[in-house]
Amino acid sequence: MAMQESVPWWRSAVVYQIYPAGFADSNGDGLGDLGGVLSRLNYLAALGIDAIWLTPFYPSPRADGGYDVADYCDVDPRQGTLADFDALVTEAGARQIRVIVDLVPNHCSDQHPLFQEALTAGPGSPARDRFLFRDGRGPGGTRPPNNWQSEFGGPAWTRVTEPGGAPGQWYLHLFDDSQPDWNWRNPAVRAYFEDIIRFWLDRGAAGLRVDVAHGLFKDADLADDAAPAPSHGPSGRYHQPELAGLYRSWRSILDSYPAGIYPGQRTAIGEAWYDDLSTVRRYLAGDGLPQVFNFGLIHTRWHAGGIPRMRSAVDASLAMLSGRESAMPWVLGSPDVPRPVTRFGMTDACAPLAPGANVDLAAGERRARAAVLLLLALPGSAYIYQGEELGLPDVLDLPPEARTDPIFRRSGGTVVGRDGCRVPLPWSGNAPPYGFSSGPVAASPGACPPQPSGWQHHTVAAQSADPGSTLNLYRAAVHLRRAHPALGEGTLAWLDGQPGTVCFARAPGFAFAANLGAYPAPMPAYRDVLLASGPLSRGQLPPDTAVWLATNPP
Ligand code: NOJ
Repeated sequence: MAMQESVPWWRSAVVYQIYPAGFADSNGDGLGDLGGVLSRLNYLAALGIDAIWLTPFYPSPRADGGYDVADYCDVDPRQGTLADFDALVTEAGARQIRVIVDLVPNHCSDQHPLFQEALTAGPGSPARDRFLFRDGRGPGGTRPPNNWQSEFGGPAWTRVTEPGGAPGQWYLHLFDDSQPDWNWRNPAVRAYFEDIIRFWLDRGAAGLRVDVAHGLFKDADLADDAAPAPSHGPSGRYHQPELAGLYRSWRSILDSYPAGIYPGQRTAIGEAWYDDLSTVRRYLAGDGLPQVFNFGLIHTRWHAGGIPRMRSAVDASLAMLSGRESAMPWVLGSPDVPRPVTRFGMTDACAPLAPGANVDLAAGERRARAAVLLLLALPGSAYIYQGEELGLPDVLDLPPEARTDPIFRRSGGTVVGRDGCRVPLPWSGNAPPYGFSSGPVAASPGACPPQPSGWQHHTVAAQSADPGSTLNLYRAAVHLRRAHPALGEGTLAWLDGQPGTVCFARAPGFAFAANLGAYPAPMPAYRDVLLASGPLSRGQLPPDTAVWLATNPP
């Protein structure tokens, strides 16, 4: 049994999400890689983060940004080697940075050897039973086995051609047709993933981020969805009762691990989407997953009318978890949603994001700067997605041929998808690739979309030299948070403020205020301003601004 810390590191950790393909490219092929991450560790250390989470870097056709895994226990040769991963764990550890890897247990790539084996083994074989193959409905089995739709649009079933050449069974894929779902009711699948978990923990991973953590088990009968199709609440495809037991078994694996090269427990964080927050309690309860993401802020827009909802999201989460606040880390963005600068800058809060959407980037930037002070002042752990610290917006005008998201393809180009928030980071210089890569940013399968011109003021080099930059705001906030006894783990007390403001106190001696309204607002009583997201005017908090305050003890 690992030696237990009094407060596990992950309860107050600031974790930086790396989408390796777009982070830094060390071999000049245009696809970011582990060598690129290694080469930028000093940048990450200067940011002050506690851990990095690497999204998939495994061998993959990259039909879904690497979430179509062809081999769970290796590194894609275009992105490095296992020796690079080992070096990364060691070198990051030397800088007090832990490494979290992505576990993708709901589905694999159709190129995974076990899926290929299932295709050739034919109906009724043990190889097929590792996946969800079923006969079709209707004469000749020409209709899918049920009415489920894929998360990426279109039917969730694809028909195969049997080894003899005849049209055959259908397999389930909640996402792209190149991502067949595993059959989690088959014990062999469970054993297979236990080996994968141990493989990465043995190599020094500090934790696992669990993809589609709400979806592994499906209704045993695969019954039709009731109309209208469910969103993310309990249904035949999501939040099945067996999940809680599975996560308890994974927790006991995590807890059986020694500390490794840095002290403290191994963790796992579930990506579980929910309609009602209380649904995820079952995964955390009774020594289940240590953490599940709190998505209360990830879809928020910036407007005063949204404050009651924001406050009740925070209250609900704190009340549900009382005493375990950081079991649900906060997050503002990810490679799956529009970046905060763009989201908060949209002038029509209800419009879908698409080329031609009206975005006020200056307002978006001010609000995103204020929002990160909120993120880092809330009780518990927080996650930052690469590029947020540079104030990057989404690139909305990508040409269709540069878009690789299966959502774009499966919707026939009617939904732009997620490519706009996956453009590679700009490191230095005045033109693409801005130091991201020494080679051309190739349009190879799964490569990131091209960077735009005009990003020279977003580069790490330019922002490092500018004391007022978003990068320097992030650095100051993360370091202050680490040093301040009121921040990280703990509780909050709401303070009364002018309508349109969000204000709370944290003990000892800290207050937060943000102005989402249209007029300057007074600030809570304070002794000193610790950090502000923008200029303050004569003791007032201007619109789209947030502030961290030192307060006198009561
Ligand atoms: C969630 C990941 O964040 C997303 O990028 C991916 O497409 C889906 N899970 C499916 O794996």
